[in-house]
Amino acid sequence: MAVSFQNDIMPLFKQFQAQMAWRLDLTSYDDVKANYQAILAQLTTKSMPPPPFPPLTDTQIGQFVQWMNEGFPP
Ligand code: HEM
Repeated sequence: MAVSFQNDIMPLFKQFQAQMAWRLDLTSYDDVKANYQAILAQLTTKSMPPPPFPPLTDTQIGQFVQWMNEGFPP
């Protein structure tokens, strides 16, 4: 299954937008693409989202990796 920012990545991050707005806009394609390395580091170490939020599942993190590997489809 192809992944895209609008259909897969943005909906996954939207619930956290307000808490991260001071650093980046998790619903903005340009912001997420520009910060993909920092975001990946946070996700794979399960640092973000922080407790009490449950970490993203490996499937969800896999979607982010696939989105990167496929060249950041909008
Ligand atoms: C999937 C959701 C989230 C993603 C992808 C994300 C991503 C990030 C990124 C990329 C940074 C910067 C790290 C760096 O500069 O290297 C960061 C820092 C931070 N985020 Fe988030 N965040 C998420 C959710 C949240 C939530 C829900 C909160 C608060 C309830 C939060 C609070 C913070 C805080 C306090 C920092 C700065 C302290 C630190 O670096 O540990 N984040 N986050």
